[in-house]
Amino acid sequence: MAIYDTIGTTYGRTRRPDARIAARIHAALGDAVDVINVGAGTGSYEPPRTVLAVEPSQVMVDQRPPGSAPAVRAVAERLPLRDDAADAVMALLTVHHWSDLAAGIGELRRVARRRVVVLTWDQEVFREQFWLVREYLPEAAAFDDTRAVPTDRLAALLGGARLEPVHIPHDCTDGFGAAYWRRPHAYLDPQVRAGISMLAQTGDDALAPGLAALADDLATGRWHDRHAGLLALDAIDVGYRLLVTDS
Ligand SMILES: C[S@@+](CC[C@H](N)C(=O)[O-])C[C@H]1O[C@@H](n2cnc3c(N)ncnc32)[C@H](O)[C@@H]1O
Repeated sequence: MAIYDTIGTTYGRTRRPDARIAARIHAALGDAVDVINVGAGTGSYEPPRTVLAVEPSQVMVDQRPPGSAPAVRAVAERLPLRDDAADAVMALLTVHHWSDLAAGIGELRRVARRRVVVLTWDQEVFREQFWLVREYLPEAAAFDDTRAVPTDRLAALLGGARLEPVHIPHDCTDGFGAAYWRRPHAYLDPQVRAGISMLAQTGDDALAPGLAALADDLATGRWHDRHAGLLALDAIDVGYRLLVTDS
C-alpha cells in the first residue's frame, strides 16, 4: 500500500499550490512543450502543458481536480514510459519518499527529452534555519535525517544540475513542512500536521512534548519575543531547492 494512501487523505485541503512557487517551477520548465509530473500527488504545480501524471497512491489520484492531466499509478523507479517521452519531467517534493533514488532519477533522465526539474530541500539548512525543528520538534528533524536527499547526491545523479533556492513566502498557500514559519499556531492544528509528512510520519506521540512547549510559548508570548525578527520578514530561505538539469 502506498504511504500516501494513509497520510494523504486530507492533502488537497492544506496543500494548495502557491502561485509564487508555481511561477518558479514553471520558469524552470522553460519552453518545454510537454511535461510529465512524477510523484504528482494531487496535481499541484502542473502547468497546462502537462501530458501525464505518475502517482502510486490512489488516494492522491482521487484528489486531482477535474480536468487535470491523466494519471497513471506507478512509481518513479519503474516508469511505464518510453525513452524521451516528453520534453520535460518534474518531480516535486517527492524524491525523499522513493525506495530507490538512483533508479528513480535514472528513470526521469531516460524519459525526459530535454529537462528535469526536481524540488526538494537541503536538510542541513532546514535543520539550522527552521525554528520548529530546531527548537521544538527535534524528533521530526531526526526522522527527516533518515530520508532527506543530500542535494549534492541528487545533482550528481542528475549528471549535474543548477541549484536555485526557493524562498518561502510568509503566507504560503501550500502547507508543506516550513510553510507556516511565520504562522506558528498552525502547527498546533492536527489537520495542518496531517498534510506534512515529516510530522504525520513522526507521529503525535513523539511530537507531543514539543507541541506542548510551542503552545506554552505562544500563550506566554515567549515565541514572539524570541522570533520578533521573523515577523518582519516576507520570505525566508529554509533550504528548499529547485534542481534544474538539461539532458
Ligand atoms: C509530498 S507529496 C508531493 C506531491 C506533489 N508533487 C506536490 O508537490 O504536491 C509526495 C508524493 O510522492 C508520491 N510518491 C511516494 N513514493 C513514490 C515513488 N516511489 N514514486 C513516485 N511517487 C512517489 C506520494 O504518493 C505523494 O503523492
